[in-house]
Amino acid sequence: MEKYVIHGGSALTGEVSVSGAKNAAVAILPATILAGGKCVIENLPSISDVYTSVHILREMGAEIRMLDRSTVEIDTTHITTEVVPEELSRQMRASYYFLGALLGRFREASVAMPGGCDLGPRPIDQHLKAFTSIGAVDSMEKGMIQVSAPKLTGSHVFFDTVSVGATINAMLASVMAEGTTVLENVAKEPHIVDVANFLNTLGADVRGAGTDVIKIRGAASMHGGNYTIIPDQIEAGSYMAAATITGGDVLVKNIIPKHLEPITAKLERAGASIEEFDEAVRITRSGPLQATNIKTMPHPGFPTDMQPMMTVLLSLAQGTSIITEGIWENRFRYVDELLRMGANIQVDGRVAVVEGVGELQGAPVRASDLRAGCALVIAALSANGVTEVEEVSHIERGYESIVEKFANLGADIHRGGKPSSTLQPAF
Ligand code: EPU
Repeated sequence: MEKYVIHGGSALTGEVSVSGAKNAAVAILPATILAGGKCVIENLPSISDVYTSVHILREMGAEIRMLDRSTVEIDTTHITTEVVPEELSRQMRASYYFLGALLGRFREASVAMPGGCDLGPRPIDQHLKAFTSIGAVDSMEKGMIQVSAPKLTGSHVFFDTVSVGATINAMLASVMAEGTTVLENVAKEPHIVDVANFLNTLGADVRGAGTDVIKIRGAASMHGGNYTIIPDQIEAGSYMAAATITGGDVLVKNIIPKHLEPITAKLERAGASIEEFDEAVRITRSGPLQATNIKTMPHPGFPTDMQPMMTVLLSLAQGTSIITEGIWENRFRYVDELLRMGANIQVDGRVAVVEGVGELQGAPVRASDLRAGCALVIAALSANGVTEVEEVSHIERGYESIVEKFANLGADIHRGGKPSSTLQPAF
């Protein structure tokens, strides 16, 4: 199995360019189904979740052409089925977006109950609530979720909980419903706005994305279009955290600074100096790391996907930090690995109490999920000695060329073990 071998201790310096946003890409790719025509998607990250999404589209009859490393042309005119191949859909959580997109275009869809990171229970009741509100019925058979509707009719949906996935899926399903759909208590993450902008490029009429209420006037038909995906705020935040913890000097490029505000504010509290440019930020640190408290919340709160990286950072800060996970029930599993590296962290349910220690020690560790894996890499970069991070396929679901990007910043990091097959593009 492939692993990363990291000799810690170097301060990161130089420039790193952030790739397109994973959580936008994995929604925009299924959304091309709604076009029923040709779409050109730019700034697509080279990560295994994107390869899987493209592979699914191709298996379903879409014509795919890579125009360059980060640009794909997808023609969904001749999609021949509304069933997503089971094996592929199990490989990633975001395959649930095929439900909304297929329902929107063909009025029926069948997708395997999704896999992905294990962060505790991950129900999709709010997705189904939106589908049924606009006229669909759902059923579950042999692990496959089926939704179908003779007709989709605009409706009023009030979500019981703020959900990124349910908000996006509701938009996908209702852009071609008859009449107007109003979605309330929706998620406001930058990738929600990105998906809405993409749908509008295809002829949809989606308004209010980025606020608590989204209004969608159903379009009779949609068409192809060209679109550039926004930069990945969590990838950017990960490099910012790595620069801060190693006391480096890094310019993080190809970003939208506004999307990073919750992350920037906490990094500054922890001791980073952050200089903002139009499409970049420069991170340095002069003093020691300082403890601070964090509670993860839906956007514009502090993002749960940055929580593991911040825990690592605060494990080397002066004082005690309290980290409360407000989104997922089980997102501290990586803490056991950090303890093996010398961190002093106590977890009780959704709360972690982090007592800063003077240093971390290299150790063999295992990535339990995508962000936990990145957090362990960051811990390793700041630790004394050698760390081997195993199960890196989790990391490569969401971070493009992470080894190369850190190596370019002066980190002593290389791949070891047997290469993982998930790294191969499937198109
Ligand atoms: N929830 C429900 N019912 C639903 C949907 C969600 O109760 O029908 C609950 C969840 O159990 C959770 C909360 O609502 O407690 C928020 O879940 P949400 O639906 O927002 O999460 P998601 O759409 O499944 C996306 C990202 C996650 C990220 C969360 C929160 C994608 C593919 N995944 O998941 O990203 O943590 O939003 O921001 O967009 C990651 O990138 O590492 C990752 C896990």
